[in-house]
Amino acid sequence: MAENSEFKSKIGLIAATVGSAVGLGNVWRFPAETQANGGAAFLLVYVVCVLLFGIPVMLGEFAIGRAGRSDAIESYRKLSPGTGWWISGFLGILCAYLILTFYMVVSGWTLEYLFQSLTGELYAPIAGVAEGSNLQFSDRMQEYIGSVWPPMIWTWITIIICGAVLCMGVQKGIERASNILMPLLFVILVILCITAMTLPKAAEGLEYFFSPDFSKITPEVWVSALGQSFFSLSLGMGTLITYGSYFKKDTNLTNTAVTVSLLDMFVAILVGVIIFPGVMSFGLEDENFGGSSLVFVTFPEIFNMMWCPRLWSTLFFILLAVAALTSSISISEVSIAYFCGHFKMKRTTATWLVLAPLMVLSSVSSLSNGILSDWKIFGYTFFDACDQFTANLLMPLGALIMSVYIGWFAPKHMMMDQLTNGGTLRNRFARPVIFLLKWVTPILITVILVTSLF
Ligand code: PHE
Repeated sequence: MAENSEFKSKIGLIAATVGSAVGLGNVWRFPAETQANGGAAFLLVYVVCVLLFGIPVMLGEFAIGRAGRSDAIESYRKLSPGTGWWISGFLGILCAYLILTFYMVVSGWTLEYLFQSLTGELYAPIAGVAEGSNLQFSDRMQEYIGSVWPPMIWTWITIIICGAVLCMGVQKGIERASNILMPLLFVILVILCITAMTLPKAAEGLEYFFSPDFSKITPEVWVSALGQSFFSLSLGMGTLITYGSYFKKDTNLTNTAVTVSLLDMFVAILVGVIIFPGVMSFGLEDENFGGSSLVFVTFPEIFNMMWCPRLWSTLFFILLAVAALTSSISISEVSIAYFCGHFKMKRTTATWLVLAPLMVLSSVSSLSNGILSDWKIFGYTFFDACDQFTANLLMPLGALIMSVYIGWFAPKHMMMDQLTNGGTLRNRFARPVIFLLKWVTPILITVILVTSLF
């Protein structure tokens, strides 16, 4: 997307933004975080975080992007020249890079699973494991992510595919692909939901997911839910500032933010409704594997019960791979837009400049699930450190800085102008949103981050 280009249609704009938001965060990260943080209690706090922080912060990012008409760094520079606010955009680019290191690895896993679904290898019995035993899929996953070459090679393939799409100019590619594939992802998730309801312990799974135990709501749960909501909505690191700069003058920002956030939350909840009945029914709640592999075990278990598992599995992993790809592209776009705009670089050069070092870093990330697993950063493997550090610290921090900027330091009527399209649109949410960004968001994010430290 060249500087100043725009999404063509309203639907295309929503599809591309939903394409950025809906990704591995919903299907892979959300259930793992829910399981690690007390089930329904986490879901409840997550919903509060999306409504209270997610939507206003998303509006703030859209506004900065559309008012600045540029990338994450330049937009701040244009709106407040001669100040240091652009550093917030710079932190965003750094955060985007750290996210890509593990995001590309998990995207690579989805491609491997897609390939194995196509060939049928995923559903072939493994020697020494009784057919129907849940060891079949969990053993396979553990062995796969712990190995050296296959996950690394699939990661490189993912990076190259992303690079090719990004070089081709994303607008037509992402806009068109998202228009078709995102609705298809919804449809298949609904079909899987119906199948999950027929599982023997569906009721237990739903209870785990929907009936909260309030005593489990701790400061750590708040940090994780806040991090998950920002991660899932692509907030706090400049992606939506960049996308906001591609919005038209008459786009209704509030409607867009509400639609994108609700659709994103809906996908996460659908995934939970599929996964947790699966977890209970297949006895996976006590399995000795990290959250990372949950989806890659539970979904194949469910497909295995259905008519023609390979077909469903292939379809699902195609859609998951596309969801991962549209999100990876939007994460990469933050840095590429900056290089193209600031250094007047060609898109192709900027793309490979961003993606080449990523090959090395994501290889380290992949190996940290296997031979480098003893190498710890604050007690986390490199893979988990990048995941936790970005979602639970850098993204909330990015959102905090942005809301302080909008509430207190941005040009006076910028936010109001953006929310009302220069006064041409009546928007009864404008004042409450500005109030939230000025007072509630910065104070609460600070409180959540600080209390989690003690
Ligand atoms: N929101 C994406 C997901 O849920 C990930 C993402 C994070 C995309 C940050 C862009 C920016 O998978």
